[in-house]
Amino acid sequence: MEKIHISLKVNGERKEADVEPRMLLVHFIRDVLKLTGTHIGCDTNNCGACTVVLNGKAIKSCSVFAVQADGSELITIEGLSKEGKMHPIQEAFVEKFGLQCGYCTPGIIMTAYWFLNKNKDPTEEEIKQAISGNLCRCTGYTKIIEAIKYATQKLKTSF
Ligand code: FES
Ligand code: FES
Repeated sequence: MEKIHISLKVNGERKEADVEPRMLLVHFIRDVLKLTGTHIGCDTNNCGACTVVLNGKAIKSCSVFAVQADGSELITIEGLSKEGKMHPIQEAFVEKFGLQCGYCTPGIIMTAYWFLNKNKDPTEEEIKQAISGNLCRCTGYTKIIEAIKYATQKLKTSF
């Protein structure tokens, strides 16, 4: 199959590659860019483990072709920490035990990152709504919601 050249900004760095038109963005991220923090839980647009931020919006990267990301700006979980220091949302998940096995965690943190960028003071209901597309099989969500609430406080004082 003929490959298509794509060029995009990933975590602040320009990346270029030739990809098959049918390659999903999540496979491009994991297999070509080797950014394996983005997980695959279902491949059918259900679990949210593959969530990344594309052009400022949280998306499920298994529902988009890599060629559709040409010219865009992509942030993956690897793009959140700066100079070896975790992002306040990541710190909040650690401090509030917002994870167990951790498989869903990168996707949930990317959803929270997008959501808290546009809503600095969310209610619990709004948090639940925001993460409704991200499934977690371990935590029962209580600790995740606590971690996101705590992250809103940390974000007010961190930057
Ligand atoms: S792997 Fe993308 S939604 Fe589950
Ligand atoms: S922490 Fe295990 S799936 Fe969420």
